[in-house]
Amino acid sequence: MHFAPNSESHGLKFNPFKSCTVPRPIGWLSSVSRTGVANLAPYSQWQNLTFDPPMVMFAANQYPDGRRKDTVINAEETGWFAWNMATYALREAVNASARAVAAEIDEFDLAGVTKISCIDAPCPRVAESPIHFECRYLSTQRFAGNSPEGTVDVVFARVERIHIRDEVIGADGKIDIKRIRPIARLGYYDYTVVDEVFEMRIPAANELELAGLEGMPRKV
Ligand SMILES: Cc1cc2nc3c(=O)[nH]c(=O)nc-3n(C[C@H](O)[C@H](O)[C@H](O)COP(=O)(O)O)c2cc1C
Repeated sequence: MHFAPNSESHGLKFNPFKSCTVPRPIGWLSSVSRTGVANLAPYSQWQNLTFDPPMVMFAANQYPDGRRKDTVINAEETGWFAWNMATYALREAVNASARAVAAEIDEFDLAGVTKISCIDAPCPRVAESPIHFECRYLSTQRFAGNSPEGTVDVVFARVERIHIRDEVIGADGKIDIKRIRPIARLGYYDYTVVDEVFEMRIPAANELELAGLEGMPRKV
């Protein structure tokens, strides 16, 4: 089958689009409001953009009534947000933090997780999460949607500090992903957990190509 998503119906019981780009890593994002209220929410429209310097983005759809998401407002107003790695052990807290609640509600309390301060950013991090990025807000690009809730704020940021819990760094110097068990979004109400890893290198790649694959900045 095929269909033009902007003008034709897919004819299926459920929209297949979100189930095509899978798995999507979860940007479990913490921020703080101008008045000091801590905020926490998952964003699966989240990615790294480049690695030197490390940059990230997330895409926040607006609410049907036109309101923008608190994470976007906080990032724009304070200039910062933090990313917390979402793990299988933390899945219920991730889910609880997705509730649409008033901006005055502390979503760390709602999700039952502990606050730990950032070093550079004014917002808290999730203490139970093994990896965090402190992200400095750069800009927002807004795209109109076909529907009000399709309208999206794409937020770009630069990673200024990376925290990794020592226990999840293996003897080989790599992050032990199988021990962390990150979760990611599929389509519908489905998720997956990363508990299998395999290695593959580009055949006959030179040192520079391999460095790009590994994410190693070019030596100047
Ligand atoms: C796993 C997961 C992923 C989500 N991804 C997104 C997303 O990419 N963009 C978005 O606008 N909302 C997403 N949501 C919904 C938001 O988390 C939800 O609207 C939340 O209340 C926003 O909080 P905030 O207003 O405090 O930023 C997601 C929800 C879940 C459970």
